[in-house]
Amino acid sequence: MNVQTIETFKQGAQTALEFSARQLRKLITQHPDYFPLYTVKGKWKHDSEAWTNWCEGFLGGMLWILYRHTKDAWWQERAEHYSQLIEHRKTDRNVHDLGFLFMPTWKAWYDLTGLEAKNQVVIDAGKTLGLRFQPKGRYLRSFVSQDSIFIDIMMNVGIIFYAAQQTKDASLLQIAVDHCLTTRRFLVRGDGSTSHEGLLNVETGEFLRQTTHQGWRNDSSWARGQTWAIYGFTTAYQFTQDARLLETAQRCADFYIERTPPHGVPPNDWEEPNPSQPYESSAAAVAAAGLLELSQTVTEPSKADFYRKYAFVILDTLLGPEFLANETSGWEGILKHGIYHERKKLGVDESVMWGEYFFLSALDKALRLA
Ligand code: GLY
Repeated sequence: MNVQTIETFKQGAQTALEFSARQLRKLITQHPDYFPLYTVKGKWKHDSEAWTNWCEGFLGGMLWILYRHTKDAWWQERAEHYSQLIEHRKTDRNVHDLGFLFMPTWKAWYDLTGLEAKNQVVIDAGKTLGLRFQPKGRYLRSFVSQDSIFIDIMMNVGIIFYAAQQTKDASLLQIAVDHCLTTRRFLVRGDGSTSHEGLLNVETGEFLRQTTHQGWRNDSSWARGQTWAIYGFTTAYQFTQDARLLETAQRCADFYIERTPPHGVPPNDWEEPNPSQPYESSAAAVAAAGLLELSQTVTEPSKADFYRKYAFVILDTLLGPEFLANETSGWEGILKHGIYHERKKLGVDESVMWGEYFFLSALDKALRLA
C-alpha cells in the first residue's frame, strides 16, 4: 500500500470507529443491559428467536475497543459493566461459545489492567468449555447434542489453549489439540472448504457424516463457518506451533479467497445456486480479522503480504456506503447485509452483533499494521 492509500484507509477507519461509537452509545443508553443478536429491519430491540445464547461478549468487546481508542473513562466504565453482566456465564455448560463470551471482554480487561482476578475469570471459562470434551471421538460437543461437532467451536477452543497455558495443565492442552485435529480430519475437506457440523457415534466415536444448520446443504460450504476455521486454526497454531494447524488455516483461507468475488464479501454459502442474498458481511468481517492474524503468523513474506492485502480489500469494501450504515437513515447497526440463520429466516440481510465486533476488531488490527 502506498502512503496515500494508507492515509485514505486510516481516515475511513476513523470515520467508521466514530460512527460505531455513536451507534453503540445509543444502543446502550436506549436499551440498558440488553444484549442483542441481530437487527430486524435495522432495529436492535425485538422479540425474535435467538436460537442459542452466544453473543453476549461482543457488546462488551466493542466497548473495550472503543475505550482503547478514545481513552474515555465513560467507555471503560460501560465496558466493565457489560463484562460484569456476563461473569456468571463462566460456568455455563449449555453452550460451546465461552471463547466468544470471555475473550473480547474479560481477556481484554485483563490485558489492559494486568489484574489477576480478571484473568482467573477467563481461565475458569476455559476450564468449563473443556468439560464438553468427548473422549470417544476426541472432540468438544456442540450445544445441539452430544454427537455433534461444529466448525464454530474452532473459534472458541482458543480459550481452552489459553487456560491450559496459564495453568500449565497438560491434559487441558491435550483436549484442545485433540479437538483441533478431529475438526481438521472430519470437517475440513481436501479443497480447504469446511462443513458446518459433523455427527459421530457417541458409543464408539466413529465419524458418521457431515451436516449443516446454517449452510445451504450438508455437502456445501457455509461462509461464516469457513471464517471461524481460518481464524480458529490460526489461533490454534499460535498456541501450539503445530505446522498441521497452520497448513489448515492457510488451506481454509485460500479456499475463501478463491471462491469469493474480488470485493471480498461472500454469500451465505458458496454452493447455494442463485443465492437469495448476495452478501454475508459478518463472514467478511471475521475473514478480515482472521486474515490479518494469519498474515502476522505465516513465515513466508509473500504469503503474509497476500493475506494482509486481501484483508485490506475486504475492509475497503466494508467501509463503503453499501455496507457501512452511516448513510442509512434510521438503521441502528454499524454494518449492513449480515446473515445469522438463513434457513430459520433469523437475521437475514441485517446487522449482527458478531459482524459488528469482528469489523471493529479488524479495523483495530489494521490500524495498528497501517
Ligand atoms: N452460531 C455461530 C454462528 O452463527 O456463526
